[in-house]
Amino acid sequence: MIKAVKGTRDILPPQSGVWNRVEATAREVFRTFNYHEIRTPIFEETALFARGVGEETDIVSKEMYTFDDRDGSKLTLRPENTASVIRAYIEHRLDQIPGTKRLYYLGPMFRRERPQKGRYRQFFQIGAEAIGLESPVLDAEIIELVSTLLGSCGIHDSRLLINSVGDPDSRGRYVAKLKEELASHIDELSADSQRRAVTNPLRVLDSKDPQDQPIVEKLPSIHDFLNDSCRDHFAAVCRYLTDRGIAYEVNPRLVRGLDYYTHTTFEFLHGALGAQNAICGGGRYNGLAESLGSKVPAPGIGFSIGQDRLLMAVEEAKPAGFDPKPLDLFIAPMTEDAFQLGAREAKRLRQSGFSVEVAPAGKFKKLLELASKSGARFALLIGDDEIANGRFGLKNLATGEQQAVAAFDLAAHLLA
Ligand code: HAM
Repeated sequence: MIKAVKGTRDILPPQSGVWNRVEATAREVFRTFNYHEIRTPIFEETALFARGVGEETDIVSKEMYTFDDRDGSKLTLRPENTASVIRAYIEHRLDQIPGTKRLYYLGPMFRRERPQKGRYRQFFQIGAEAIGLESPVLDAEIIELVSTLLGSCGIHDSRLLINSVGDPDSRGRYVAKLKEELASHIDELSADSQRRAVTNPLRVLDSKDPQDQPIVEKLPSIHDFLNDSCRDHFAAVCRYLTDRGIAYEVNPRLVRGLDYYTHTTFEFLHGALGAQNAICGGGRYNGLAESLGSKVPAPGIGFSIGQDRLLMAVEEAKPAGFDPKPLDLFIAPMTEDAFQLGAREAKRLRQSGFSVEVAPAGKFKKLLELASKSGARFALLIGDDEIANGRFGLKNLATGEQQAVAAFDLAAHLLA
């Protein structure tokens, strides 16, 4: 038997109903912050991610689904969407339209990671990018947006970690210092970190290898290397967050696993998720557009929420209104004529917004059994007698109560 590929899965009803509800909630929150949807392709030229995310990152060096197209070009299933959004921004000259561009997206991403709880090879992100402004005002807006979105999904107990990874000047000095420190411990590091200590020392900071931890803990903090403008930017972000009542913890080790970040980086962690506890990651990326070949700068900041993980948290929090809506009415016709009448009633009720299923004509007992299994609120029993006297048997499936109801009265009873 052919099964779903390792690290991928099917989202089935009723769970898919909760996914839809989360997506509708996200779209509504984006609307209130004036963010508009962008849909980018799910595959791109490999070079976009190699240059955007960084050759030395885990994502690019180990996790991408890359293939040769028939014309010899190298393509990759998107492992994330920020590089694609910036590509689209440059390609469509969105910089020419005045004002900050506020874009959001929902969709699948692909990374060949080791699957475990909350980690998949095809996973889903809900994300946004705000492009065209260097001001820390935008950093605070993006973080407030995530906090609002999580709150609207009933998640109130996440922790926000923030940091600054500085600008190229500050980071250059920090990286030089890191190289020096790491060189003096090179033999004690894991094989991956030994290589990165030379090629991309910042990556050593987010090594998960226990062998690296004693050394990582003693490395200097980037905050001692930030220049005045980086310090001011970070202080302003913290001030704006405090002003809005958003609690945060500063974590100087939060460099994140993608190379494009400058200044602010942040993550939201959630307790219900186990080892994969990051429900959202984001940050500022002032030089990304230029690294993708743009002549015009496109400073911006964004985030991506891991939708699979958000759903785990929502299922635990069980917020009101997120349960899939039950079927309003199951129509149980006992004859062919009753079926015809039932189908006409169903059409009328659906036009008024009720959800209705009509069973094929069948025996009373069997139909009642189907009705109770359908999870419907009400069953409508129609036989020849009901057709003759114009009143149907409307059974409340939760209480078992049944009453005779005229067709024109059905909608009112369903609303009750
Ligand atoms: P990221 O930290 O790589 O950042 O991913 C963001 C979130 O996606 C993670 O916090 C996690 O919830 C989820 N995620 C990542 N990998 C997996 C996986 N294998 N299975 C399930 N969930 C996963 C980015 O992708 C950046 N594009 C965020 C960003 C936007 N930065 C600026 N703008």
